[in-house]
Amino acid sequence: MAESRGQWSGKLGFILAATGSAIGLGNLWKFPYITHENNGGAFVLVYIGMVLLVGVPIMVAEILVGRRTQLSPVGAFSHLSQGKPGGKAWSSVGFLGVLAGFTILSYYSVVAGWTIHYTYLSFSGELSHLASDAHALQTYFGGEFLTNGQQQVMYHLMFMGLTTGAVYFGVQKGIERVAKILLPLLLLILLVLLVYSSTTSGFGEALRFLFVPDFSTLTTGSVLEALGHAFFTLSLGMGAMLTYGSYISKDVSIPRAAFQISLLDTLIALIACVIMFSIINSSDIEVSKSSTILFTTIPTVFAQLPASGFFNAIFYLLIGFAALTSTISLLEVVSSYAIDELSWSRPRASLTMGAVIASFGVLNALSLGGNATLSSINLVGRESTAGVFGTMDYLASNWFLPVGGFMIALFVGWVLGARDTLDELQKGHGDFSWFKLWRVLIKFVAPLAVGAIIVSVILGREYQ
Ligand code: PHE
Repeated sequence: MAESRGQWSGKLGFILAATGSAIGLGNLWKFPYITHENNGGAFVLVYIGMVLLVGVPIMVAEILVGRRTQLSPVGAFSHLSQGKPGGKAWSSVGFLGVLAGFTILSYYSVVAGWTIHYTYLSFSGELSHLASDAHALQTYFGGEFLTNGQQQVMYHLMFMGLTTGAVYFGVQKGIERVAKILLPLLLLILLVLLVYSSTTSGFGEALRFLFVPDFSTLTTGSVLEALGHAFFTLSLGMGAMLTYGSYISKDVSIPRAAFQISLLDTLIALIACVIMFSIINSSDIEVSKSSTILFTTIPTVFAQLPASGFFNAIFYLLIGFAALTSTISLLEVVSSYAIDELSWSRPRASLTMGAVIASFGVLNALSLGGNATLSSINLVGRESTAGVFGTMDYLASNWFLPVGGFMIALFVGWVLGARDTLDELQKGHGDFSWFKLWRVLIKFVAPLAVGAIIVSVILGREYQ
């Protein structure tokens, strides 16, 4: 069966694809702005703590379930839960993952699509022109671009087309190949930008902001936000790592791989912050508070620096590349469900699921102002949950991923036996001396921490 489902060509292929899934808009768009909102240093430290204490253990758990069963989430949970407490009901965790993949991809690809437009604007020189006046860009982004339904839909569909293409060609020829080309390119671009940012006058201040903690600025809300973000950025809680784990062979060390993927993801998020804050600090332009830093403040500041057009363009290209390797993993979760459970061929599964999600995503693309009705829907009534777009992001980030992660931790910690898990973790690794620590983290620490996010969401605090 393994051959018909596909397999990575080897350990490197898996690490690159999984790291590609993890590194995305979460690192380059969301992490910098929530770090800015939460005052830097102390938040960064807490975030790193959350990655180590909760993120890495849950990633180990997901990959373990995937490799053990060689199945995607729905099949994996229903297979492993046979004869165990809860029985088949556990397959609902898999369904929740498929639903999360569908939901996230439908709006993620809209934001990803913006990078195509901005790369184009940078190359054509229009962006520097717009950005020479801070207000012009702000007005352009919010007033003309987001509300232009036709453009929003077009870029979203282009991005979905690229994503579907990669999934269509399969694990090795599509997903792995794209990651093998894009990830090294992404690292290279990031290094070029890092060197560039170190020559700007705001570099020292950026380092201080990020790495000198001031714990008096930390709130319970920031701690929970750091945890919620750890899930999103590491692609946890919806079976993406589980699905990718189902294509690895028994000679890969799961704990080592989970650690490497998380480390790379965190490094890239930090480097992205250094670059962006250096650039921002080197000018006196006021930073827009919200999520739009990346599309308004950054280009405005770039425009004042030397050689801005070129660096601006590669910057958006970088974000687009990072987003693509993430959208691929989202579509793969949904498609592999159809391949494993409905016995569809890969072309049929990828094209059908890609088309369905792309069509649904059109509603998201039009809900940023392009269509009045779609923009006015707001189930939860907060500013950030406005429109179909806001609603989908709210549901996925606040409910689907935390609940999914909670259930995965419970399942692996309490339902699967210690012997089975140890046996799987030792394959490709040898003696796993951290096993006891990992068990404590997955049985107690992770469920309690994630339970805290869920309770706080019920009590009305949101995490995006
Ligand atoms: N980890 C991705 C990012 O940081 C987003 C993602 C979430 C991808 C869940 C797959 C699954 O952008």
